[in-house]
Amino acid sequence: MRVLVVGSGGREHALAWALSRSPAVSELHVAPGNAGTQALATNVPVSAEDASALREHCRGERYDLIVVGPEAPLAEGLADALQADGLRVFGPHRQCAQIEASKAFSKDFMRAHGIPTAAYATFTDYDEARRYLDEHGAPVVVKASGLAAGKGVIVCQTLPEAQEALDAVMRQRAFGAAGDVVVLEDCLTGQEASVLAFTDGATVVPMVVAQDHKPAYDGDRGPNTGGMGCYAPAEVVDEAMVGRVVAKVLQPAVDGLRAEGCRYVGVLYAGLMLQDNAFQVLEFNCRFGDPETQVILPLLETDLVEIVEACIDGRLAEVEVRWRRQHAVCVVMASGGYPGGYPKGLPIEGLDEAAAQANTMIFHAGTRLENGRVLTDGGRVLGVTAWDDTLALAKARAYEAVERIHWSGAMYRTDIGAKGLGKAGEA
Ligand code: AMP
Ligand code: GLY
Repeated sequence: MRVLVVGSGGREHALAWALSRSPAVSELHVAPGNAGTQALATNVPVSAEDASALREHCRGERYDLIVVGPEAPLAEGLADALQADGLRVFGPHRQCAQIEASKAFSKDFMRAHGIPTAAYATFTDYDEARRYLDEHGAPVVVKASGLAAGKGVIVCQTLPEAQEALDAVMRQRAFGAAGDVVVLEDCLTGQEASVLAFTDGATVVPMVVAQDHKPAYDGDRGPNTGGMGCYAPAEVVDEAMVGRVVAKVLQPAVDGLRAEGCRYVGVLYAGLMLQDNAFQVLEFNCRFGDPETQVILPLLETDLVEIVEACIDGRLAEVEVRWRRQHAVCVVMASGGYPGGYPKGLPIEGLDEAAAQANTMIFHAGTRLENGRVLTDGGRVLGVTAWDDTLALAKARAYEAVERIHWSGAMYRTDIGAKGLGKAGEA
């Protein structure tokens, strides 16, 4: 099979890596990819954000399968367009992608289908939103409804903070059109977990649960990022709770979308807040998580192509999705200054030594190749991932690899996976 992966981050490197291990795949392309994907596939110089250029590119190729990584092209209707051209796509249609691309849609959808989520109100008018806010008080969460690359959510502990956030989103348009509609939501507390599932639009098969670490610094301090590391399985969500998440969240979502005329093919991701053995949905994503994918796919035993093909064909129920009984940890190494401004183009040393370790994959996120050298090219640069029989061993192995890798100003958290160890008591 000729397969195309759309995207350029750590998630897409992990997807390309998993697909490259399938005996069914004879040729693998990534658009646009990074220095990591270049080592196992052919990079195609077409941006993942440019749906019409991607469509044009695919028309000239004979891809048997296209796997879309990021949300933006899905929200723009890339899956619809490619499918209209007769191609097989793993990733939901534009209408289904609304579950991530519009928080207002997503919240109304959850309310309509009885999916547990925080109380909220939606506004298009600043003065009305401001009145609601002043009456509601803090803490409160201000959310730009549209896609804002994970940055459009501001958790506010005080009313002045919330007023400032609302002003930034609605009046200064800090996130552009994404903030034309605003969701004001009750603030939840607890631990977060990511439950991702494969779906063919009817059957829902959950993956191992992952726990992301969004704040930049150790101990969950500092500004929010795209995710500084992950581990799986996150035992804070046990098997019984996964069953409840499927029954109360994922299955009703897939069934609800189908009832609205949209068969969801792809990955449905529920970001949960856990408290006292209960859960609420913080958000839905219409795709694999990043960096969740980097810890989930190394634990997947079943051929990813087999699962993806079954989803497209509507026969996921026939596939047995098996997981290795191991643990995986991904430590994100980021550019100094991230999530603020950071330099690019710095040479990275030690990649080969780190990759030579057993049960280790260095997933590239923001890198590029220049004259045979790997250079930094983004905020999140690498997802250093290792797996082993226990979480403690996987964590130690991941950090051993991290210590072999160097560039000027590299930063990373030293406590990825620590939450899981606390719970399992195996530190
Ligand atoms: P979202 O993009 O909606 O997942 O929000 C990004 C992050 O903001 C989440 O991972 C949470 O850490 C935080 N967040 C979102 N909604 C809430 C909420 N209702 N209460 C507390 N924190 C939230
Ligand atoms: N790790 C969070 C996300 O992929 O949205």
